[in-house]
Amino acid sequence: MATTIIRTVEEMRQTVRRWRCKDGSIAVVPTMGALHEGHLSLVRVALSHADWVVVTVFVNPTQFNNAEDLIAYPRTEESDLAKLTTVGAHVLYAPSVDVVYPKGFATTVHVGNVSHGLCGAHRPGHFDGVATVVTKLFLQIGADIALFGEKDFQQLHVVRRLARDLDIPIQIIPCATIREPDGLAMSSRNRRLSTPERQIASHLPAVLFHAAEQLRQSLPTHEVIAEAKRRLEEAGFDGIDYVDLRSETDLSPLDTLDRPARLLAAASLPSARLIDNVRVAPPAWKQRI
Ligand code: PAF
Repeated sequence: MATTIIRTVEEMRQTVRRWRCKDGSIAVVPTMGALHEGHLSLVRVALSHADWVVVTVFVNPTQFNNAEDLIAYPRTEESDLAKLTTVGAHVLYAPSVDVVYPKGFATTVHVGNVSHGLCGAHRPGHFDGVATVVTKLFLQIGADIALFGEKDFQQLHVVRRLARDLDIPIQIIPCATIREPDGLAMSSRNRRLSTPERQIASHLPAVLFHAAEQLRQSLPTHEVIAEAKRRLEEAGFDGIDYVDLRSETDLSPLDTLDRPARLLAAASLPSARLIDNVRVAPPAWKQRI
């Protein structure tokens, strides 16, 4: 069956009420569109957990701190719809900017702690925009579960925190990053990369996986991070916002690999800023479990 497009809050709520009358469970996959295999894998997981799946497509202006980036963000609704029909999503919820932020809108959701540092330090206001729109989408749809990719690892923490803190009854399910054959994490922004930029981009996961292996071998964290930054510069990245080791469970900074962690990085090319992260745990940790 073809995926149905819904554009208003009223119609979205009516649809959810109908599903609830049949005791159906509901999953939501929030996206900004330009769907790729990473998004579709989230939809497949959603379909395995719930009776009904809503995919939201909304290019959220409040989370862009750069007007050019907002304008350049790909908008591909027709092909998104075709892809969602192929995988079997039930609804594509695509509200307009006026529906999400009507005249007079004056509320911001700010999540402390986990939104500070990393991308939060380099994209002022970004996580306020994410937290505000995700809260609105959660409240508009009222789904039981929501699926988020681990590529946006800090975002995953922000969303988990807001759902807990605001008592929104939704379970957040993290899903592993889906990668291209050369390791590059799938992202809607990848399509903006020129051929030479695409080649440079593939160094980001390679450098992170290599650094993670060095951490596992107990090399000093600050040396591993310094070398990773050097290698990214040599590969041709314009600017490296950060390469950082953080606790996987609460994103607190780590000087040594003494618990399950994530090595996270953000680096820029002229056409796009890329982020990625890899999991790294001390060898002894595995033995203890
Ligand atoms: O990850 C994204 O695509 C966006 O940040 C999200 C979660 C859909 C909010 O706009």
